[in-house]
Amino acid sequence: MRLSLATKMFLGYTLLILMFGVMSVYVLGRFSAERAQLNQLNHQLLPLDRLAAEIETLSDASVRGLAEILRADAASRLPLLQSARRSFQRSMSLRVRQLQGILARADRVSLSDAQRRFLDEVGARVDQIRDQTESLDRLLGATEQTWQEPEPLDPAPATPENDIEPAGRRLLRDVRLLKLALKNRITAQVLDLEQQESRATAVVLWMSLLSVAVGALIVLLSFLALRPVQRLAEAARRISRGDFSASVPAGTRDEIGFLAAEFNRMARALEGREAEGRRQQEQLELVNRQLKQSSLDLELMKLYNENIIRSIHHAILVCDVRGRITTLNPAAEELFSLQPAAAVGQPLSQLPLAGTCAELLRSWNRVLDEKTGLFFEALPLPGPGERLADLRAAPLFGADGNAQGVLILGEDVTEKVRTKQALIQSERLAAIGRMSAMVAHEIRNPLSAIGLNAELLEEELERLGCASGDEPRKLLSSISGEVDRLTQVTDEYLRFARLPKPRLQAEDLNAIIRDLLRFLGPELNQARVDVRLNLDEHAPPLPLDEAQVRQALINLIKNSIQSMAGGGTLTVQTEGGDGTIRVRVRDSGRGMDDACRERIFDPFFTTRNGGTGLGLTLTQHIVMEHGGRISCESAPGQGTCFVVEFPTHRPLPG
Ligand SMILES: Nc1ncnc2c1ncn2[C@@H]1O[C@H](COP(=O)(O)OP(=O)(O)OP(=O)(O)O)[C@@H](O)[C@H]1O
Ligand SMILES: [Mg+2]
Repeated sequence: MRLSLATKMFLGYTLLILMFGVMSVYVLGRFSAERAQLNQLNHQLLPLDRLAAEIETLSDASVRGLAEILRADAASRLPLLQSARRSFQRSMSLRVRQLQGILARADRVSLSDAQRRFLDEVGARVDQIRDQTESLDRLLGATEQTWQEPEPLDPAPATPENDIEPAGRRLLRDVRLLKLALKNRITAQVLDLEQQESRATAVVLWMSLLSVAVGALIVLLSFLALRPVQRLAEAARRISRGDFSASVPAGTRDEIGFLAAEFNRMARALEGREAEGRRQQEQLELVNRQLKQSSLDLELMKLYNENIIRSIHHAILVCDVRGRITTLNPAAEELFSLQPAAAVGQPLSQLPLAGTCAELLRSWNRVLDEKTGLFFEALPLPGPGERLADLRAAPLFGADGNAQGVLILGEDVTEKVRTKQALIQSERLAAIGRMSAMVAHEIRNPLSAIGLNAELLEEELERLGCASGDEPRKLLSSISGEVDRLTQVTDEYLRFARLPKPRLQAEDLNAIIRDLLRFLGPELNQARVDVRLNLDEHAPPLPLDEAQVRQALINLIKNSIQSMAGGGTLTVQTEGGDGTIRVRVRDSGRGMDDACRERIFDPFFTTRNGGTGLGLTLTQHIVMEHGGRISCESAPGQGTCFVVEFPTHRPLPG
């Protein structure tokens, strides 16, 4: 039969408890038996022994006393005898009754057969003593009676006193026999008690030793049975530290053995799972590394793309299908004057750029639906200055092939357009120059002939007596005036046509301006023009052709004088910075409307009677030949301000 560990331990401890129970019952039994014997000793034997001793003493004393009385003289012996008889009779009968009372009170039911037999024997002896006592008492009575009678008549009277002594000795012998029997009995009972006690002590000792041995055996067996639990705990600790190879010997076939087997199975399963987990973790780490690498590659690619986009000089603006800006590069920020933080997420139509993109916004759906690119040329840009940009718009396709937004590429073409315009202008000027030279050349000779003939005609009329106020002289004077004017115009044309390339050398622009104003001083005074100079004294020398720059500035100042019919204020200012020196020529004259201002640099445009319309054309040509630019701010009645910019660094021709 296979018993479980719990059952074994239960049985072991039950056995131990039973042993202690048996031992306790035995001890209690022994105590009970000994108590009964002690009770008998205390309440029967010892009182009997004490009374027997008293009777012995009393009998002994009475026998000796009677012997004395018998030897006493006849006169005194009778009262002594009477007294002794009364005392003896009273004392003996009292003790005998006491003996009999003790024997009568004995609980014979609880006594053993031997004890009962002994009590019967004692009872018989007591009866014998009583009989002996009564016999002695009768002898004493008879003796007393004999001594009271007068001298007996009978020659051989009865002499009971002679029997007193033998009767006393018999009584004494019986009393001593009783005492001896009691003493033997007491001694035997005490010995028996001592033997019983030592036996019980030995039994208890042996049973205790046996219990201790059984207890120790149970503890040892429990320890041996539970030792695998300790190994289990140790193995569990190893597993908790990650050592899944831990196992415990299966050992016994009880619960511990079953637990050990289950534990080993669990450890193997955990080991398997750990290995699987490690493998999965390694795979995860590999995937993670690959992901990190991919993410790094993507990041690098993104950075690379961003760098490309940032490095591109063209403005790149990406909008979603609804026209909201999603991405822009620094070139776009600069070109379109956008703040990325404010612009991203904003619709194009709500930004200052909306004007530039107006046409694109109108064609927005066309770009998306027809997936077609559009090109817009030289559109005005928002922000300071007059800047122009070309815009290219193309749909941006997503992974699904659908348009997900619009890519706008912008290019600042301000310089390109200006250069192109300048080129056209310069070609036009060259053509005009050539034509002017030709016309001037064709007109100049006939004009000088006409002028010469007019002079000869005037001399002839004067010689014929025609006064200067006469009509012929007036007509001739008018012809001469027109010839002079035409000669002047043709000179202008020729100067324009023959304008050479500027010969640049470092010049002080402030000095040129001061000298020029000195030269024009009388004219300015005459026109009641007040001059104000505001020159930047730190302006560096510039690469200039002095004669041409003087000519350009004279044209500007003369125009200002002409615009201030009743006089006014002319302000000339220089200002250095940003690699240029700016000259501002401001007047308080009549100013111009926009239509006029837009045409002032066109050749032959003039609003002035007698003007050639070549002054500003020539000025612009000279400024551009110096690598500079000229612009004009003006409004009717508000005066006019011409701004001329000369670069401070322009390589001087070789
Ligand atoms: N400071 C100015 N104030 C007002 N209008 C001006 C001024 N400067 C130029 N203009 C206008 O520009 C036109 C062209 O000027 P431009 O100097 O080229 O020719 P012009 O002065 O008319 O003739 P020219 O200079 O050949 O004698 C002028 O007729 C005038 O209408
Ligand atoms: Mg002019």
